[in-house]
Parts: sequence; structure tokens; C-alpha cells
Amino acid sequence: MDWTSHHMEVIPASGTLKMLEIATKMEKEGKKIYHFEVGQPDFSTPQNIIDTAIKALNEGKTRYASSRGVPELLDAIEYMYAQRGIKIDGNKNVIVTPGAKMALFNGFLSTIDAGDDVLLLNPAWPTYKTLIRHSGALPVDVTTNPGYELNEEALKDRMGKEVAGIVINSPNNPTGGVLTKDHLKFIYDLACDHNFLIFSDEIYESLVYDGFKQTSMLEVDPDLKRSICVSGFSKSYAMTGWRLGYAIAAPSTIKNMVRVQQNTTSCATTFVQYAGVEAIRGDQSSIDKMRNAYQDRRDLIQKLFCEIIRVECLNPMGAFYVFPDFSEYELSSATLAELLLKKTGVVTAPGHIFGEAYDNHLRFSYAASTQDIMDGIEVMAKFLQTLK
Ligand SMILES: Cc1ncc(COP(=O)(O)O)c(C=O)c1O
Repeated sequence: MDWTSHHMEVIPASGTLKMLEIATKMEKEGKKIYHFEVGQPDFSTPQNIIDTAIKALNEGKTRYASSRGVPELLDAIEYMYAQRGIKIDGNKNVIVTPGAKMALFNGFLSTIDAGDDVLLLNPAWPTYKTLIRHSGALPVDVTTNPGYELNEEALKDRMGKEVAGIVINSPNNPTGGVLTKDHLKFIYDLACDHNFLIFSDEIYESLVYDGFKQTSMLEVDPDLKRSICVSGFSKSYAMTGWRLGYAIAAPSTIKNMVRVQQNTTSCATTFVQYAGVEAIRGDQSSIDKMRNAYQDRRDLIQKLFCEIIRVECLNPMGAFYVFPDFSEYELSSATLAELLLKKTGVVTAPGHIFGEAYDNHLRFSYAASTQDIMDGIEVMAKFLQTLK
């Protein structure tokens, strides 16, 4: 008997599972594998955050917390945005969730109806599509110009009365590109004219380089009339396994999201929330160190792609990914990714999983050591020569 529900149809088989199986087998055989596919920091969580979690455990912070979040963390999030000149009310505008992924899912469930269209600025992290489908809505791809630059015409062309929302993600996974304030304003004005909601995933907001100032949707829509902003601790604080994220929205939306959370996960893990307070209010020097290391690696990997691999690779302003264009090899991204893995041990994420239009690209995460970046690019360059 097969107990698979019809609902499982919304969850596609992983686009990278086969590759990871091959990589694991090769690693077991003692082959060197260069992991450029992982979307998580290679740094450990800063010690002050770990110590605070242990202290919270010893103090008995082990029971259910309020579904909205512990007051100390809600205050800390309010304080963090105030430091950037953004005014929110921690008690009304915030919900703390087990990861940003859950904040997004909860946001879709609370606001979108079955059959609605939700626009997805492409290239896009594949999870958005699955989460939108889980809530019964239909994801609609809208392509951007290279580097995630908004294509205003492409977006305007998608307008229609069934559009209930748009998902934007700046800095972007997989390109590392950012949306400018003008582009955010354009999206906001369009949302006002056509009455839809903006889901702004800002999880990479503190990983921006060269002194770039990232604009939050909260600065364009300060009254949160039609925005849900999502962020979390996974990337900025190297806390992927802790599962801590949050959403910021209008009080009525947050109330609905709290209802969803009460009936699903109950709350984010209580002692982890206290660690989150330390992440925000504690010493920030290790965060700055990680950001500086990513910036150096970004400069390195981008230069190596342009000078050694000789493919088009933009120098992105944020996140920890580059998304070079391999069209000259005339292979699908899945084929090229598999070849690279088998022949060189380099694991990447094939471009097609981020949108149909990106089958010429591969995503490389530079949350990897400098040595691996240099060695991995070198072996790739040698192999790619043989394909020419
Ligand atoms: C764009 C984007 N949003 C959200 C997430 C998930 O974040 P979290 O670990 O807080 O669930 C990821 C993780 O890869 C991501 O790339």
C-alpha cells in the first residue's frame, strides 16, 4: 500500500539529491570533494551565543514560550531595526519562528488563498515555489536582468487581478544581487496600484560588501501596509541549525501568523530565543570578521571565474553566492553539474532549480575555505578546457 497523499505532488523531488549521493560515495572512496553547493556558513556559531544558550538551559528556559516570541527577543529585534533607523513595535509587528523558512510558510498560509497567483522574482530559492504551492496558490515566474536587477517591464506584464502577492529576496540567493531602493519603490507602487502583498525575504541583509547599504522593504513601506518582511539568524550569525527566524508585518497579519504558529510549531525553541537576544545585543566583532572573510572570498572567486575559467561572473553585492554563466559549453546545468562532480569533485547547484531561464548557470557558494576555492577552481579550469 502506498500512503502518499495528493498533497505530496506540490513537493518536487530534490534537484540536487542525486548529486549529493554521488558526492557522498566519492567522499567515502577517499576522493577530495569541493563543496560549493551548501547554502550555509562554514563558520561556527560565535561562542558568546553558545554560552548564552547554555546559560538559558541551566536557568530552566526549557518550557513553551509565547507563540509570538519571548519578550526579550521581540525587544531586541525592535532595537536592532531602530539602530538602522527603522521603527517597528516589537510587541505588535514581530513574530519569532523556527527559522525564516517557517516565517515564510506561515506568512503564505495566513494571507494567500488557494488559486491566487504569487509572483516570484527569478532566479529564486526553490523553496518559495514549494511553500506557495503548499498554501494552494500558484507561483508565477518573473525574470530579472542579470544580477537580479529588476526588469520593470517584465513585472508590469504579469499584472492581473488574480495576483495576490510577490516574493522578493534581496540580497538574492542564488545571484547575490540586490534590489535598489528605486526598484523596491517601483514594486511597492505596483503593489498599491494592483492591490497585492509583498513578501520580502531579507535573510542575507547583513551580508553585504564594499560598504553597500542594503535597503529593507520596511524603509519603503514603513507602515507595513502591504509588506511582510522575513529574516533570521541562520546566515548572519552562523546559526543554521538553531532554527531561529522572524517576520515583521502589520499587527493584524502578525495576529493571524501567531494563530498558525499556535497550531503548528507552538513557538521557536525557548532557550534558542535567548541566544538570539545575545546575537543581537552582544559583541558583534565575530560577525564583522565573518563578513570580511566572505568579502575576501567573493573577490577571489569572482576574479578566478573571470580570469581562469573565463566565463561571465558578476561581482555581487551580497549573500555568499556567485552565479556564473556557462552558456558557451552548451550543456544543461544538470549535465554540467554532474560532469564537474564526477570529473573534478566540485559540487555546485545547477541553475535550473532557480528557474527555467537559468539552465546556463551554476550556483557556487563561497561559504567555503579560501584553499578550497583556489584548488576547486583550478581543477575545474583544467577539466573545462577539455570540453572546448
Ligand atoms: C533566500 C533564503 N531564505 C530563507 C532561507 C532559510 O533560512 P532559515 O534557515 O532561517 O530557515 C534560506 C536558506 O538557504 C535562503 O537562502
